[in-house]
Amino acid sequence: MIRFEEISKEFKQSGKKMKALNHVSLEIEKGDIFGIIGYSGAGKSTLLRMVNGLETPSEGKVFVKGKELGSLNRQDLSHIKKSINMVFQHFNLLSSKTVFDNVALPLVLNKVDKATIKKRVHELLEFVGLDDKASSYPSQLSGGQKQRVGIARALITDPEILLCDEATSALDPKTTVSILELLKRINQEMNITILIITHEMQVIQYLCNKVAVMEHGQVIETGNVTDVFGNPQNPTTKEFVRTVIHDEIPESIVKELKQSTREKKIFQLKFFGENSSQSLLFQISQKFKAEFNVVFANISELQAATLGIFTIVFYGDPSETEQIRQFVADQGVDIEEVIL
Ligand SMILES: Nc1ncnc2c1ncn2[C@@H]1O[C@H](COP(=O)(O)OP(=O)(O)O)[C@@H](O)[C@H]1O
Ligand SMILES: [Mg+2]
Repeated sequence: MIRFEEISKEFKQSGKKMKALNHVSLEIEKGDIFGIIGYSGAGKSTLLRMVNGLETPSEGKVFVKGKELGSLNRQDLSHIKKSINMVFQHFNLLSSKTVFDNVALPLVLNKVDKATIKKRVHELLEFVGLDDKASSYPSQLSGGQKQRVGIARALITDPEILLCDEATSALDPKTTVSILELLKRINQEMNITILIITHEMQVIQYLCNKVAVMEHGQVIETGNVTDVFGNPQNPTTKEFVRTVIHDEIPESIVKELKQSTREKKIFQLKFFGENSSQSLLFQISQKFKAEFNVVFANISELQAATLGIFTIVFYGDPSETEQIRQFVADQGVDIEEVIL
């Protein structure tokens, strides 16, 4: 649906050249809710804006629906752009216009007839849960309601691709969840591909099936959300994952473990799926003599799976704890020793 091929972008900042994007390649497939995460200045907005031609690459190619944007004439480019719309962090509503008129605006500009506009605007306001606010003005709405208007306005052109630039970053956590729920419905019920950029890992965890992590204009890690959350490689990715999935042993327990002189090994196990953890622990208790104690557990819901992280202390001689490690690994469970 969208393909970035070796994209670089240079900007001039007070006479000096700086590279906002440095050889970025990514592919977003039809139906994806693809999240791009990174700290401020990583190049996320610059990359997103290339999809609808608001920025052009200094090097590399952007393909949308199989067409390379740089090779299109004006007419073909404007045709492609019609299949894309955008949602903004600060909503970008016209304060002098009612909710109805804000949502209707793209159709008014396209000279669509009034009856069609009225029908379509009400359908969409109902979809986003704001039909009773049609004649309100933006100043009378909460942040979440304003974003619903922004989303309805983006949907009115029937896009196939929705670009969201920090769509929830101006909202409180509870409102964020309700907007993410709405975006999920848009993806599922309207079959719209969503590309969302954010600096909040909760957004990726709650919404996305795929993720790319950006830093200093480069993609440093990308994949299915389950894989990246379950097994992050890059230190920055690990930092982001840690903001939503806690896997650290509480300080008090670390202290206790350090004080105890018993022979032991501490392992962190990661499970994807339902109750497999319980059955595995039961098997270990049947097969081995070692005493064990779960010192930390965390279950996280992701889009495609449940990720369970368990930190377990095994007491016993090293040869047996090594056998346990091997046994767990043989079951296809990710296991790593934790050194305090
Ligand atoms: N139009 C521009 N002119 C000059 N520098 C820019 C421009 N747009 C973005 N930049 C710079 O490019 C870098 C990446 O910006 P941006 O894509 O907005 O990052 P992000 O969205 O990840 O915060 C930043 O250092 C920013 O200052
Ligand atoms: Mg940005």
